[in-house]
Amino acid sequence: MSKPEINIYSNPEELSRAAAELFVARAGARIAPSGGFFAALSGGTTPRRLYELLASNSYSDRASWDRIHLFQVDERSVPPDHAESNFRMIREALLASGRVPRANFHRIAAECQNAAGAAQQYALELAAVIPEREGGFPRFDLVFLGMGRDGHTASLFPSSEAVGETQLWVYPSGPGPGGVERVTLTFPILNAAAEIVFLVSGSEKAATLQKVLEGPCEPLLLPSQGIKPADGQVRWYVDAAAASRLQRASGSER
Ligand code: 6PG
Repeated sequence: MSKPEINIYSNPEELSRAAAELFVARAGARIAPSGGFFAALSGGTTPRRLYELLASNSYSDRASWDRIHLFQVDERSVPPDHAESNFRMIREALLASGRVPRANFHRIAAECQNAAGAAQQYALELAAVIPEREGGFPRFDLVFLGMGRDGHTASLFPSSEAVGETQLWVYPSGPGPGGVERVTLTFPILNAAAEIVFLVSGSEKAATLQKVLEGPCEPLLLPSQGIKPADGQVRWYVDAAAASRLQRASGSER
C-alpha cells in the first residue's frame, strides 16, 4: 500500500475544487481505456460543495456522465426525501442538474425496515454493475470518504460490529449519531478501491485528524485508520483549519 498523500488547502472551497478536478481527471483517464468509471460518494455535509461543483458546467461539461456510475458509501435508514438522507443531499447538489443518467446513480434503499435485506440488495447491484474485482471484491475507481469527529468513516463507527466485517460488501450498521440505523460499505470493499480520497474540513476535526494521521494505529477505535487499500492510493484533502494540529504534515500546502 502506498503512503497516504496529504494535501492541505486554504479553505473548504479550494478543497472542493481540487476534489472536483480530481474526479473529472480520473474519470477522463479511466473511461478512455476501460469504457467506464465507477465512484462511491459519501454523505454528510463536507462533500456537498464538491457535488455542486460537479453539477456546474465548468466541471460537468468535462465528464462523460453516460459512462460514469455513482454509488453511495452509506445511507441512513430514513426516506430518500428526509432531511437526514444522504441521497437527498446528493440529489439536491448533483442529480437535480439532470447531467447524471438516472440509471447511473445507484441509491441504497436504506429506508426499508429490513436493513440487512437492503444491504444484500445493494451488494447484488454492485456485483452487477462494477466489472473489476480486487481480491474478489468490486473495485471502485474512486471513493470519496469523510471523517467524523469520533474517527468514523462511512458508517463504520468505533467498536461497531460493521468495523469487524471481513466478508460482506455492504452491512447494516448503526445506530449513528441521532440513533439512526444505517447501511454502509464495509472495509473489504472500500479497501479494494484504486483510489480513496478523504475530504476533511473545519477546526472541529483537527484533534481527530491528528490522531488518525499521526497517532497509534487503533482502527477499531478510529475506523478512518482502517482505510488501507492493498493495491490503491489514499489521499487526504484537508483544509488548513482541520490540519492545524498536524505535527508532521508532509502534505503540500495548496
Ligand atoms: C454520513 C457520512 C459520514 C460522514 C462523516 C463526516 O453518512 O454521515 O457518510 O461518514 O462522511 O460523518 O461528516 P461531515 O462531512 O458532515 O463532517
